Amino acid sequence: MTAQLNPRGDVAVLVPAAGAGVRLGPGRPKALRLLAGEPLLVHAVRGLAAAASVHTIVVAAPVAEVSTVRDLLAPIAPVIVVPGGAERQSSVAAALAAVPAGPDIVLVHDAARALTPATLVESVAAAVRAGHDAVIPVLPVVDTIKEVDAGGTVRGTVDRAALRAVQTPQGFRRAVLAAAHAAAADALTDDAGLVEKQGVPVFCVPGSDHALKITRPFDLAVAEQLLARTLDS
Ligand code: CTP
Ligand code: MG
Repeated sequence: MTAQLNPRGDVAVLVPAAGAGVRLGPGRPKALRLLAGEPLLVHAVRGLAAAASVHTIVVAAPVAEVSTVRDLLAPIAPVIVVPGGAERQSSVAAALAAVPAGPDIVLVHDAARALTPATLVESVAAAVRAGHDAVIPVLPVVDTIKEVDAGGTVRGTVDRAALRAVQTPQGFRRAVLAAAHAAAADALTDDAGLVEKQGVPVFCVPGSDHALKITRPFDLAVAEQLLARTLDS
């Protein structure tokens, strides 16, 4: 059954999904790799469609897979699919350009964070709605972090108390994200980085362990276990 998105929702979600997945090893583009028998992108879009505020979902697909992705997602939710770019940032820009008039809040969410709970989508959107122009979900850093030189010798230990690991979805007032992308020079790995360069304060909300990014084969194995447990309970 296709999940209908909320026509009164105020949130558009951009889903960059055009990456190759080099670190996952040889195979199809990462968004189409299987997790418990379904492509990562299907899991990701299903989670987004379950969030009540979501009005529009725009997926940036690998250029050669646009029609495959359209067919794959049609039974899951009504989504707009556009060809992605060579860098994550250009994929996000392509998706942003396809957002119809209406939603005032834009979230950017990696397809690779396939198990992100709808509650996290809602908490990021709620913080934007409450007046923060840019919002990111974060987790405390658990490992000790050291700065190391090119030769492998430690230069110092970083105080981790002030450090956070950053996840997606990252949420923005639409005009703020559009201005940041319009002004972007170098390709960055997250959208909040572009907004920071514009001098806009970025507000943090608690992230979720379930929003882990599937990057390497180990992460895929962890995600399989998490999903199996969620289905059991
Ligand atoms: N992404 C994208 N367009 C690109 C590169 C990345 O839309 N040109 C997307 C990926 O599909 C992913 C998200 O950005 O959902 C985060 O990127 P990452 O985890 O690095 O995915 P890949 O680039 O696919 O993986 P790798 O770097 O290992 O090749
Ligand atoms: Mg990448």
